[in-house]
Amino acid sequence: MANIVIEKPKSSDIEKIKYLFKETITTAFIKEGIGHLTEDITNDINEKIHKLMRSFQDDSDVIFLIAKIDDVVVGTISYGPPNNDIRKITNNELNNMGEIGSIYVLPEFQGKGIASKLIKEMLSILDKKQVTAFCLDCGLKNAQQIWLKKFGKPYIIREDYWGKNSHHMIWLCNVSDFKGD
Ligand SMILES: CC(C)(COP(=O)(O)OP(=O)(O)OC[C@H]1O[C@@H](n2cnc3c(N)ncnc32)[C@H](O)[C@@H]1OP(=O)(O)O)[C@@H](O)C(=O)NCCC(=O)NCCS
Repeated sequence: MANIVIEKPKSSDIEKIKYLFKETITTAFIKEGIGHLTEDITNDINEKIHKLMRSFQDDSDVIFLIAKIDDVVVGTISYGPPNNDIRKITNNELNNMGEIGSIYVLPEFQGKGIASKLIKEMLSILDKKQVTAFCLDCGLKNAQQIWLKKFGKPYIIREDYWGKNSHHMIWLCNVSDFKGD
């Protein structure tokens, strides 16, 4: 991954990022055995596009970063206000806490450390802004295993949130534990 670049997206990257959302979210749902939930897939993709566009506004409360290899957008990450599932599950307890989200890596580039690089870079930006903690949530079983290893024990597990045996997990983490040097 020598030629990987992590940077803020430019408007010329928007179409490539939309492609990444579509590919990654659709594949993730299929892998989970819920590829038939086409309305949920579309809503998820549109919600991420909306957040991306919000990050381009002046004085936006959303930060986006992308990972690029040879001009291909291979990964994304965002930071911004917590989403509705976090608000609902925590009874609005974390409303003032920023959420790290939109962590997506193109299927053929997964497992190569790209998400970890994006997380490290985002947390170093947050550290410079004197943000000390963040939250993160996940309802997909495959990604939950990755985040359990990376972020440890969740702050909350809401059992059966998405149906029987489909839990939702929320982590609450210190920036200093993950930002690296
Ligand atoms: C989840 C996802 C973003 C991870 O991206 P990635 O680039 O493949 O992840 P990385 O290779 O950087 O690995 C991240 C960490 O998880 C660990 N990990 C990787 N694969 C793992 C696995 N199968 N099981 C457990 N841990 C794993 C890595 O060791 C790494 O930890 P480290 O930084 O302490 O070494 C990616 O798989 C993805 O896009 N999935 C589909 C979309 C999705 O579910 N996104 C998350 C929504 S909440």
